[in-house]
Amino acid sequence: MKANDQCFCGSGRKFKRCHKASFEPVRPGAISPLRPVPDTIEVPAYVVEGRVDRWDEPAVKSPDVIARMRRTGAEAARILALTGAAVRPGITTDELDRICHEATVEAGAYPSPLLYGGPDNPFPKSVCTSVNEIICHGIPDDRELVDGDIVNIDVTIFREGVHGDTNRTFFVGEVDDVSRRLVQVTYESLLRGIEAVKPGEPFSAIGRAIQTHAEAEGFGVVRAFVGHGIGEQFHTDLHIPHYHEPRLTDIIEPGMTFTIEPMITVGAHEHVMWSDGWTAATIDRKRTAQFEHTILVTDDGAEVLTPHPDT
Ligand code: MF3
Ligand code: CO
Ligand code: CO
Repeated sequence: MKANDQCFCGSGRKFKRCHKASFEPVRPGAISPLRPVPDTIEVPAYVVEGRVDRWDEPAVKSPDVIARMRRTGAEAARILALTGAAVRPGITTDELDRICHEATVEAGAYPSPLLYGGPDNPFPKSVCTSVNEIICHGIPDDRELVDGDIVNIDVTIFREGVHGDTNRTFFVGEVDDVSRRLVQVTYESLLRGIEAVKPGEPFSAIGRAIQTHAEAEGFGVVRAFVGHGIGEQFHTDLHIPHYHEPRLTDIIEPGMTFTIEPMITVGAHEHVMWSDGWTAATIDRKRTAQFEHTILVTDDGAEVLTPHPDT
């Protein structure tokens, strides 16, 4: 859309006088002070130790771990819906962080992103907020959302010794058609990936289903960030690409828990990393969207452990 074209929103105004602000590049903003967590809340090992030390965690979970993951996953989904309900033009991503943080500690849970990944550059906030061309891991700051933006909110919480990880992309006010289609196709891609989860099939089936759908709709699939095993650890060594990786011959088994979280792009799928060491943006600054669920492999498919409470 050119500056002097009529805006897509139907206002009759020129694009440059209407929704153009949402197409300006996203820039780093000011990050607010660390939000405290009450010391009654159980924290993950990486917070105590100041670094992520992975241990060997079984990919197939015990019934007890699964029961806890079901409760924690449902709570993460509730907090995501509650945070997403606050999205509107003028709210800052820091305010979304505050809402998510307070709801999480109120639920007796720890916000998993907070201080994750130490010791050199731990994530400083309780949720990831990724606007427009930001692929993932955006840090909440003082940027106000503007009419026409899309924003991904990625909530992970730790409760009962396990993590639940889920994200959705929300519209801010009136959004252009390409962005709407991007978000719709990204959600469909997640559903295709979940439908491809079948015990006995190779893990590659998931990415194949996602890539086939996204590319048929003319969109790109991010390679550099993948889904992951999850449980007592935020990320285990199980990797779930969202593109077809035929060498991935490991077999899906009942009782496994992992995330599927496709990042789909309007243009190029490659990214540039901001100097903050977290924020990943598309190299062409075209928009990108993401949806994520934590899932459990059942005897004949998948159970979503982070079901949307509001849809
Ligand atoms: N929630 C993200 C994921 O889906 C990970 C965020 S890591 C953080 O895997 F440190 F940025 F929070
Ligand atoms: Co994840
Ligand atoms: Co996530």
